[in-house]
Amino acid sequence: MPSLAGIVLAAGKGTRMKSETPKALFPICGVPMAELVGRAMREAGVKKPVMVVGQFVEQAREALGKNYIYAIQKKQLGTADACRTGLEALGDYNGYVLVASADTPLVTKEVFSTLFSKAKESKAICALATCEMSDPTGYGRIVRDDSGYLKRIVEEADAAREEKKISEVCTSVYVFDAKSLRNALSKLRPSKKGEFYLTDVIELFSERGNCIVVKFADSKTFLGVNTRWHLAEAEKILRMQILQRHAQEGVTIRDPHTTYIHFDVRIGKDTNIEPMTFLEGKTRIGERCQIGPCTKIKDCSIADECSVLLSHLQEAVIGKGTRVGPFANVRTGTKIGENARIGNFVEVKNSEIGKNASIAHLSYIGDSTVGESANVGAGTITCNFDGFQKNRTVIGAGAFIGSNTTLIAPVTIGDRAITGAGSVINEDVPPDALAIGRAKQINKENWAKEWRQKRTKRAKKS
Ligand code: UD1
Ligand code: CA
Repeated sequence: MPSLAGIVLAAGKGTRMKSETPKALFPICGVPMAELVGRAMREAGVKKPVMVVGQFVEQAREALGKNYIYAIQKKQLGTADACRTGLEALGDYNGYVLVASADTPLVTKEVFSTLFSKAKESKAICALATCEMSDPTGYGRIVRDDSGYLKRIVEEADAAREEKKISEVCTSVYVFDAKSLRNALSKLRPSKKGEFYLTDVIELFSERGNCIVVKFADSKTFLGVNTRWHLAEAEKILRMQILQRHAQEGVTIRDPHTTYIHFDVRIGKDTNIEPMTFLEGKTRIGERCQIGPCTKIKDCSIADECSVLLSHLQEAVIGKGTRVGPFANVRTGTKIGENARIGNFVEVKNSEIGKNASIAHLSYIGDSTVGESANVGAGTITCNFDGFQKNRTVIGAGAFIGSNTTLIAPVTIGDRAITGAGSVINEDVPPDALAIGRAKQINKENWAKEWRQKRTKRAKKS
């Protein structure tokens, strides 16, 4: 099998996005556009695609990772110049090379594989993907001769009125024979705008008749993102594809219109996703879970049979059968065991909660360890921050923290110990002990009755 290389053109400034962020790094469903394109290339068999970027190479490396050879296009002199920069990074590579724009984020591995195999089949030096756009404005148009053969591509800015009516467009997705491409690129002349157009190499190739056109039926795949509105359109398309994929794999999506699931999220079968739910980043959700409504979960791992209702979770690990919410906020660094309960208006941060533990109402648990089967009463607060540093609270297994206990960290409550409701606890409590840290109650007999009588008398006098 001939080897396969790939180049992603991602150096453009993206002026029309009106942003400080390079266009190629804008995410769609949680993944930068350049990575979506690069990933499709990798899936089609390119081991390490070349990512052509501008001066923002460090930012790109950070966002896109180690799967790419980074090539820097110093000046944005057009798509042909970007492609030339990418080819240089491939040295004297001689096989086929896939080329695509980072701003065509919905392109698939199937498109790349089709182009590659068609090119091989007909020994073409170029295969170009085209499609019909209902509104071709902004795209390069495919100009064919009288017998229907590809002649050239004309850019919107240079197109004559008749040419603008052509609805078949250049998708900016190609496969080239690397050697022929290198040769053609060296012969290009700049456009009126002073840019070098990759589309111009087609005319050089087609003269020799060895450039083939592969016309795809689904134009959505080739949506070019030049503006924020295109970005929204592309995200909507990909979002629906993601939801459909989950539905096919046995996940119930109650309301596709209000469900947002990032590309890399994994969900087990027979899980229900309720409306207004956002599952983001690298979130993993097990089987038979109930998620939502009105829930946002980012970068969490949630085991089977959990329920999360009206809550926010981030960078947390949740054990099997645990119930979270309604209205819980589970924050970074939290690990919750099996069959635990995190109830309404409970915030947990950077804490380890044992299995069967219950923190059911109105609590803040930060930088803590809560043992197995401990019961943390309503209104319990860990005072983890002393104004300078964070301190830990340890609550032992089977401990019972009375309602409205204030735990001043660092502090340890022993296994099976109890704290009296309303206590302020700033000293360690031994296992099996009762700790009460509050004013002793005094009852004054008849005090209320006498006070009322006094007040009534005084009121009558005046
Ligand atoms: C390009 C094509 C057009 C096609 C359309 C499909 C050319 C000249 N035109 O137009 O025929 O219909 O894509 O979406 O190729 N880039 C660089 N360096 C540069 C300039 C651009 O890396 O100097 C990158 C951009 O980051 C972008 C891609 O190349 O990812 C395409 O550039 P863009 O300016 O968006 O081209 P279009 O005008 O959309
Ligand atoms: Ca574009």
